[in-house]
Amino acid sequence: MNAPLPVEVLKQHLIDPEICIRCNTCEETCPVDAITHHSNNYVVDPEICNGCMACVPPCPTGSIDNWRLVVRAEAYSVQDQLGWEELPQEKPLPVDAAAGGEGGQPMPAPQPESGLAQAPAVTAATPGAAVPPWSAAHPYVNLYTHKTPITATVVGNYRVTGADTESDIHHIVLDFGEQPFPVLEGQSIGILPPGVDALGRPHHARQYSLASPRDGERAGYNNLSLTVKRVTQDHGGAAAHGVCSNYLCDLAKNDTVQVIGPFGHTFLMPNHPQANLIMICTGTGSAPMRAMTERSRRLIGTADIGKLMLFFGARTERELPYFGPLMKLPRDFIDINLALSREPGQPKRYVQDLIRERAAHVRGLLADRNTCIYVCGLKGMEVGVLDALRDVVVQSGEDWSILHDALRREGRLHFETY
Ligand code: A2P
Repeated sequence: MNAPLPVEVLKQHLIDPEICIRCNTCEETCPVDAITHHSNNYVVDPEICNGCMACVPPCPTGSIDNWRLVVRAEAYSVQDQLGWEELPQEKPLPVDAAAGGEGGQPMPAPQPESGLAQAPAVTAATPGAAVPPWSAAHPYVNLYTHKTPITATVVGNYRVTGADTESDIHHIVLDFGEQPFPVLEGQSIGILPPGVDALGRPHHARQYSLASPRDGERAGYNNLSLTVKRVTQDHGGAAAHGVCSNYLCDLAKNDTVQVIGPFGHTFLMPNHPQANLIMICTGTGSAPMRAMTERSRRLIGTADIGKLMLFFGARTERELPYFGPLMKLPRDFIDINLALSREPGQPKRYVQDLIRERAAHVRGLLADRNTCIYVCGLKGMEVGVLDALRDVVVQSGEDWSILHDALRREGRLHFETY
């Protein structure tokens, strides 16, 4: 008698819709385009996913790191997953599958084990590191979720760009009172805007980077700040109403806000005293740079802090958030380079132009293994910044690909773009 055919078991990669904050990082990272989304969910196509794990470390919430053993022929389809409100329970496998079809061990398809502890994949789709710098503090993530949000109170909300400009950017301070909400610079939180979407479902959370350091917007207080730009146009320039940004920018003092998070375990600052920071940002991408700068500023006089170099891009001085306070920082504390693209009477400049102009200085910092680089802001600048860094390195006769690999491996190059 013929032995029954073995049933092929798949360790299926799934995304938890209850934790996912729809930040698109996984879809951008996946080197084989196995991840897709519609208005409700981000999902993994079992026909395409090869379990390479490239998407797992960059996910700020860990919602990507979910797996179910299923019979391959019965894998959850993209269509199934798009309709989910929560992950299905693990189903018992048929006896012949669990027994490997031939009385042996279960036979998962050759998929890697899940878990962030595994060596992160470094692929062309991830120009930055998937690990934090060695001296980063350990972050808390997912303390509060869609099902268990925390309520924060607005204690401040004011505009940080010129009142006469198009860029309506607000500095918003949220207080958590006696409730624990421990954060680190470089982490983000999710805000749950009230109301429902066009299909009558509650809005998903929107993610915002912290603009304040770990010990509070006001040192010693249980509060944090965000930098939020009021969205009135889509990427193509057509009129669009940003649900969460308008909600936040219109908040008044003492209003309450539903918050989830914190998120992020890699875009974190080093903590050893000699660490240097190269910070490159545009617009609201300045939030984590403000947090790290303020953390360092509070350490002046208490420790031997390293060098800070900032490249900050905005249309004009008046559209550059925090321009006033930034310019008051001591020059021997931070080396500030402003790239203004639409300042009347000045040539258009992007952050990458200034990186090239300051090549000697940047090269000097890059030669120091204590230097970490952070890039945050418009997606479009990612390629330009990488090209500029490569040019700076190549000019000095060094090999950029070797340095780039080392920067990623050592958690010294981080991107957060949108
Ligand atoms: P631009 O004047 O060409 O739009 P925004 O105000 O839209 O948030 O943009 C912040 C700054 O980033 C602006 O100066 C903008 O210039 C600039 N910028 C736009 N595209 C890029 C890019 N690909 N690389 C670097 N900077 C960019």
